[in-house]
Amino acid sequence: MPEAILAQLAVRPGELVLDCTAGRGGHAALLAAETGPDGTLYLCDLDPGNLDFAAARVKAETGVPTVSLQGSYVRAPRDLRGDGIAVDAVLADLGFASTQVDDAERGFSFLRDGPLDMRMDPGGPVTAADLLAGSDERELARIIHEYGEEPLSRRIARNIVQKRAVDPIATTADLAGLVRDAYGQRAASSRLHPATRTFQALRIAVNDEFGALDGLLRQVLEAAEAIGAGQPTWLADGARVAFLTFHSLEDRRVKRAFAELDRRGLGSAPARMPILPSETEIAINTRSRSAKLRVAVVGDRAERA
Ligand SMILES: C[S@@+](CC[C@H](N)C(=O)[O-])C[C@H]1O[C@@H](n2cnc3c(N)ncnc32)[C@H](O)[C@@H]1O
Repeated sequence: MPEAILAQLAVRPGELVLDCTAGRGGHAALLAAETGPDGTLYLCDLDPGNLDFAAARVKAETGVPTVSLQGSYVRAPRDLRGDGIAVDAVLADLGFASTQVDDAERGFSFLRDGPLDMRMDPGGPVTAADLLAGSDERELARIIHEYGEEPLSRRIARNIVQKRAVDPIATTADLAGLVRDAYGQRAASSRLHPATRTFQALRIAVNDEFGALDGLLRQVLEAAEAIGAGQPTWLADGARVAFLTFHSLEDRRVKRAFAELDRRGLGSAPARMPILPSETEIAINTRSRSAKLRVAVVGDRAERA
């Protein structure tokens, strides 16, 4: 939804913009074109390959200065504050990049056989194989139920524990096969591939996706409080903050935080309903069918906007 993001963030020449999830730099390059050479793009990504690609793309396409912050976006506010920077606009386009899911060696996809890795940051501490080897049955069922909303979470967790007692579960094909076995006859009538929810759950756990999202949302609220108290913080008064989410577990968190911002008079998040992709966009990019965009304006200037 690039047009909607640009319209909602309404970046002006010379502004400072934080792209929390730079990915392949598509949105960052568009935002940089709006800031122009007097602005700066702060680019963050867990994946160093994507981050370097995004920085090079912004430079090549716009010449706008960039600052790279490799690691989780949850740490970006502290880095910005440490340097005395307050950004005017923030974008978080959540989830994984197509380069990650398309690479069998990264282990994100049940459609491509590869090692069960799933780390967005290849230097991250825990792989999906580690989680499957080291978590007890109850914890596995919790992860698969909570992060994947998988109705057969307990049965799948039991299969994992039984299988790993014989052989380690090392590949995406091992895990996909094991989930299919847990589904049995139901696999034929399942609308989704039976492994979809289990893979989503493990990816979320490996990359601590909800920990990062909750942490960033909390820091947006704290920044709004600081602005209200006239204290310096990492967001400028009137900063626009946009979240593009891809499933209800993410959208629910953003919706709740923005409602609190609004209720406490710390900013404004006017639209109750998120902005959704057009039919044309869904036809071009099927992944966008579940996208939801929510935007808030933070601080006292939100009242006057
Ligand atoms: C959907 S892609 C972003 C695409 C990007 N907007 C573009 O235009 O190319 C999501 C990116 O976010 C990164 N990511 C996911 N969770 C992250 C986190 N907690 N901190 C930093 N980056 C994260 C992924 O590594 C991936 O590159």
